[in-house]
Amino acid sequence: MKILILGAGGMLGHDLVHEFKDFKPILWDRDKCDITDEKKSSELILELAPELIINAAAYTDVEGAEDNEQLANLINAQGVKNVAQAAREIGATLVHISTEYVFDGKQSFGYDEDSKPNPLSAYGRSKYQGEVKLIQSGCKYYLVRTSWLYGKAPQMGKPRGKNFIDTIIAKAEAEEPLKVVDDQYGRPTYTRDLARSIRELVLSKLESGIYHAVNEGETTWYGLAQATLKLRNIDVKIEPCASSEYPSKAIRPQYSLLNNNKLPQLRDWQVALKDYLNS
Ligand SMILES: NC(=O)c1ccc[n+]([C@@H]2O[C@H](COP(=O)([O-])OP(=O)(O)OC[C@H]3O[C@@H](n4cnc5c(N)ncnc54)[C@H](OP(=O)(O)O)[C@@H]3O)[C@@H](O)[C@H]2O)c1
Repeated sequence: MKILILGAGGMLGHDLVHEFKDFKPILWDRDKCDITDEKKSSELILELAPELIINAAAYTDVEGAEDNEQLANLINAQGVKNVAQAAREIGATLVHISTEYVFDGKQSFGYDEDSKPNPLSAYGRSKYQGEVKLIQSGCKYYLVRTSWLYGKAPQMGKPRGKNFIDTIIAKAEAEEPLKVVDDQYGRPTYTRDLARSIRELVLSKLESGIYHAVNEGETTWYGLAQATLKLRNIDVKIEPCASSEYPSKAIRPQYSLLNNNKLPQLRDWQVALKDYLNS
């Protein structure tokens, strides 16, 4: 199968490249294919004619999107439309990644694949618009929502990015005071596990539709920070706090729990975290 990975240099892209390496995927980042450039991205995709496209390209700066909603929409909605149209023209299947931020986080029991989105932030709105455009495009798609991603270094010559786990470790090692939000709940997900789940989804040829792929269990950002430091044997004081004490432009969902009702369960988040920290 001829596979194209868009956003191959990003955090998830890194693990997708590894997961699909036996297929020798074609790897494109923004430099090669800017998905906001309708004409050029379409020409490139049509010429390559892949059977499967995995779109891990996105505008992912949640805070930044509040000031740059137009850019977030251009990449996360118009860009997705461009890729989806090209996929439809060549009959390719498109795997597209979305987020728990499409939901308002008011349901403590979480969100099913068919729950109604109601985004609270500019980033969430842009990702939701991307979902709508994907579904309307008429291409064969797998829309995979996930949450609280962490993973290894981006590749393709780019410097290592930041994720929550690495930031907590760096701050603790620098003996900076640690105060972490304890009233937002989520399912931290290791990009390696997500990439594996996407591979299983694609190869099992399940029907087109929306899927939730997250590590099992749930915690708060404080719980995740605590578990990280414990697994790393770093003994520093860490204080829980309320979201209201943490000024931010973007409103984040309080219960961003995606329920996985359709895919084989991923492992528990604590097991995945241990694996990440040992790797
Ligand atoms: N991170 C999370 O916690 C999280 C949670 C839920 C869902 N998601 C979703 O998961 C997916 C992957 O996220 P991630 O954290 O791996 O993202 P990431 O590390 O920020 O990577 C995104 C990639 O997209 C590329 N990109 C940006 N604009 C582009 C454009 N116009 N054309 C082509 N490529 C472009 C970026 O390239 P440059 O480096 O050149 O900008 C980067 O390589 C995204 O769809 C995101 O919305 C993420």
